[in-house]
Amino acid sequence: MQRTFGMLGVVVGILVLVAGSASGGDFAEAKKTFNQRCTACHTFGKGVKVGPDLKGVGERRERAWLIRFIRSSQSLIKSGDPVAVGLFREFKQERMPDWTDLSEPQIDGILQWLAANGPEQKEPDERNAEVASPAEIEMGRSLFHGQAPLANGGAACSTCHGIHDAAGSSAGSLGPELTQAYFKYQDRALTLFLRHPCFQRKAQRTSAPYLTPRESFAIKSYLRQRAAGSASEVKAAASMGAQSAASPSKRGTP
Ligand code: HEC
Ligand code: HEC
Repeated sequence: MQRTFGMLGVVVGILVLVAGSASGGDFAEAKKTFNQRCTACHTFGKGVKVGPDLKGVGERRERAWLIRFIRSSQSLIKSGDPVAVGLFREFKQERMPDWTDLSEPQIDGILQWLAANGPEQKEPDERNAEVASPAEIEMGRSLFHGQAPLANGGAACSTCHGIHDAAGSSAGSLGPELTQAYFKYQDRALTLFLRHPCFQRKAQRTSAPYLTPRESFAIKSYLRQRAAGSASEVKAAASMGAQSAASPSKRGTP
């Protein structure tokens, strides 16, 4: 009986692990560790740096070998392992640091993430707002104005921020007016900004989940649309006079 339950536990555990990594959440740590500790010497698909390109490494080496090598390449080399010795020679005896503080599951997580081409995949919020579909912009608009609830709760942006939008301006004034925010920050900086709540909410609970990446992308796209919209309205008004400002989209750049 005990054994059966033990097995069941293992199976459930594996299912949880699989579900976790499939959702991408589990790879967050792998990605962070890789970026902090490995990218100084390794690329993924961009060629040799100090060490070999790690793209496809899971196909050319055994998983168990990789875990041993990453934890302590030097002991593997000293043990005379032919592959490790060969690599060490090929890379002009450049030493890769040992990572014994990383557990096997942690390294396994990195290897799984690499096998899934993780470094080449962008988070949904890392896409440039330029590529947003009208539906995504619309989603951003309704999230911003509180017409759709944020998945993790929290006040709508419009509670504190004003924005110029003919389809429903908001007049929140605790925070800055955001019509030009996209231009002020540009895409990447705005993505990073939106990963954390504005300071007043930070005080409530620092580790509380904030926007989901998809929500963040939608809101960023909406801000871009507002910034671009206001810029073309101003341009049209300046160059053509008030009457054409009514149809600014016809005068957009080709
Ligand atoms: C200071 C540079 C440096 C850092 C940092 C580094 N490596 Fe390496 N890595 C190397 C070098 C150099 C080699 C080639 C073998 C040798 O010289 O020991 C190598 C080889 C490897 C290999 C074998 C590749 C193959 O083709 O078989 C793997 C896997 C690897 N590193 C993974 C990692 C991981 C994962 C990290 C981060 C946790 C990391 N490395 C951090 C320099 C580094
Ligand atoms: C409880 C009030 C509040 C809510 C809700 C809120 N913010 Fe803010 N926000 C602020 C305040 C106050 C500032 C100015 C201080 C700061 O930079 O943190 C700010 C600053 C900003 C800035 C920087 C503006 C600039 O000109 O530098 C951006 C962008 C922004 N918020 C976006 C958002 C978005 C998008 C949402 C909704 C997901 C949101 N905020 C929700 C209060 C809020």
